[in-house]
Amino acid sequence: MNKKQPAAWQDFFRLLVTAAANVDLYSPHHPQVSRLGSKALELVRSLLDAQTRIDILLIDQNIILGGSPLPSNLHTIRFVDALKNRGIEHLSLRGAISEPELLQLILLLAKRQEPPQSPQNSANLRFGSIDMSRVGQGASATRVSRPPTENNLLQCERDRLAEICSGAGKKRSLSVIGLKEIIAHFLQALDQELNPLLAIFPLHQQDQYSFTHSTNVCLLTLAHARRLGLEGPLLHDIGIAALLHDIGKLFLPVDIINKPGKPSEEEWQMIRLHPVRGAEYLLSTPGVPQLAIVTAYEHHMKYDLTGYPAARKGWQQHLCSHMTTIADIFDALRTKRAYREAMDAGRVSKMLADLSGSELHPDLTVSFLQMINEATIPAAAPETT
Ligand SMILES: [Fe+2]
Ligand SMILES: [Fe+2]
Repeated sequence: MNKKQPAAWQDFFRLLVTAAANVDLYSPHHPQVSRLGSKALELVRSLLDAQTRIDILLIDQNIILGGSPLPSNLHTIRFVDALKNRGIEHLSLRGAISEPELLQLILLLAKRQEPPQSPQNSANLRFGSIDMSRVGQGASATRVSRPPTENNLLQCERDRLAEICSGAGKKRSLSVIGLKEIIAHFLQALDQELNPLLAIFPLHQQDQYSFTHSTNVCLLTLAHARRLGLEGPLLHDIGIAALLHDIGKLFLPVDIINKPGKPSEEEWQMIRLHPVRGAEYLLSTPGVPQLAIVTAYEHHMKYDLTGYPAARKGWQQHLCSHMTTIADIFDALRTKRAYREAMDAGRVSKMLADLSGSELHPDLTVSFLQMINEATIPAAAPETT
């Protein structure tokens, strides 16, 4: 592998596992699956000549590619986990791999697809087990029943959100069904008593900030809403509303969102428009709960109505907007940004307590902070890669 190739191979595995996530979310015939599959095909063909074969060994949670270890990331780990759960510990592929052959690989990575009796070897794609110690111990012995970690599952949902929203900036419609699935998975994760503080994601890449932040705000708001006894369709709508609260930021130029340093006055004026842009976009999207439109519009208004957009005196914000605002500020302060360091959960909690009754709803701030304080394991400082 030359210097650039490990990153390209990582991208190849990312495309495959994201396509597989879309198979689970929609179906193998969904356009997102073909789009990601075509990108993966194009990439692998640029990496390998038609007749060149590369061996991919799966050892522990690592990929050994053509004899060299590939640096691991969440996508490569998911690739390894998914194939090992199918009993596959070795595969080889040729640059001439066809679209149907690549789709077979994607289907093997999908969690909710029935596993075939055994993966079908074909001219350009072959599978095998390399663990000789298990030979003769029965078919089940070749399975590695290590489920993906909770954070891997949640990471998968964040990737789905990124895919679902990828067309929003181009004025394409969101998939509300996809969003409902994400909320159902988040609720499942919280049902397994996942500590909401540990469930929220560290910031990995600046350009992924919006999706990371949105999923964090969603998880915190869902945990908070359940603590208040909310359930059923209202709870699900609150989840979607929190997930989409910043959708208007997709209409901002990326260099404004990622700007290292404070925004200029002109940029700040554009940023202040994102609640209105988001609400307008959601208003024109079929199937979006009304609560999501309200929350996108109100999430920067503040309890004392000193925020934006300007509200007339006596404006009554929805409970969901108040909860989203609290989680929004909590997550934003805990994350390192280009212009300031991340703060620990204790310091952020103190700042929220100081804002209670002025910028933040007092009762909801108390219940949110109780939830944070009761999280049994102290929150780790966000990663700052
Ligand atoms: Fe916002
Ligand atoms: Fe936000």
